[in-house]
Amino acid sequence: MPTIPPNVRGAVITGWGTALPPKVLTNHDLEQTLDTSDHWIVERTGIRERHVGGTTVGLSVESGRKALDMSGVDPATIDALVLATTTPDRTVPASSATVQKELGLRCGAFDLNAACSGFVYGLVQAHGLIAMGAKKILVIGTDTLARITDWDDRNTAILFADGSGAVVLEAVEGEGQLLGWDLDADGSAERFLYSDIGGFIHMDGKEVFRRAVRIMVDSATKSMGHAGCTADEIKLVVPHQANLRIIQAACDRLGIPIERAATVLQHTGNTSSASIPLALADALDNSRVQQGDLVLLVGFGAGMTAASAVLRWGGSTDAPVMM
Ligand code: ACO
Repeated sequence: MPTIPPNVRGAVITGWGTALPPKVLTNHDLEQTLDTSDHWIVERTGIRERHVGGTTVGLSVESGRKALDMSGVDPATIDALVLATTTPDRTVPASSATVQKELGLRCGAFDLNAACSGFVYGLVQAHGLIAMGAKKILVIGTDTLARITDWDDRNTAILFADGSGAVVLEAVEGEGQLLGWDLDADGSAERFLYSDIGGFIHMDGKEVFRRAVRIMVDSATKSMGHAGCTADEIKLVVPHQANLRIIQAACDRLGIPIERAATVLQHTGNTSSASIPLALADALDNSRVQQGDLVLLVGFGAGMTAASAVLRWGGSTDAPVMM
């Protein structure tokens, strides 16, 4: 992947928001219908409960509106909406078109499907649009995996759930937040994790686990290389929220203490495109990131895709938002 050329117009995240459906499904609830146990699920995945319900449009509108409110940006001035999702509400039109109308945006809008890497793909894409002259972009990651999960299959039903996270990205004078990025895909591995149209998710859990650790580490290492930083300098890593053991193994190999990882999967399960913005928002809301800190986002997913980005939180200190 190319490095960022010098003097490219930068951007910073100025607002964020999340949405989770109100219905909570605990591991104990799943014990009632599946041959599984809370103990097994917690030990093997770290997940204790998850939120299920809602639509991709509904959750996206909720998280997107919160992000817009926080940034103080007039929705009519947003230049593009990028909606990362694997689970659009309809085949046509794109869910982003409906979200654009509901939020009062007057701009281009498109869906992006890179599975659980989708939000990072979308964030990198949004930086590209800003480099090309856009000033304000809304990036949303939403998935409603409950609709494509076979609730009788204990291999997958314990993992997947619904949610949404959004950020507003604004152009700045001077250096922005994105220091390095990497996007990857390996279509030869698609058989290990897929869902046909109208069908359920099929997954070879062991193979996905094995590959996930490797491709997260590879992608993160490339992004840190492009950013010119080392793992020691990363203040917070925001990994895809699939399995605590995957996060632990990836952190170990990267040499980043697990205490520096943002995790919400204990309460959200795997929400695919929403998982990284949900974990990022949680870390920001809990003041885990200060101006100037280096933040590493890293995801993997069906495809199999991988994506990562190194951000210097807030960009350079003299980077006012462009009006
Ligand atoms: N409850 C109880 N027992 C179970 C369950 C369950 N839900 N599922 C499997 N088992 C049993 C198995 O049958 C097996 O029994 P056996 O030893 O008698 O044969 C035993 O538990 C161990 O099963 P494994 O499959 O080896 O368990 P593992 O430790 O690999 O954990 C898991 C399974 C959690 C699925 C893990 O492999 C994993 O997380 N893989 C990655 C999945 C993932 O991240 N997917 C999302 C990708 S992102 C995207 O694009 C959506």
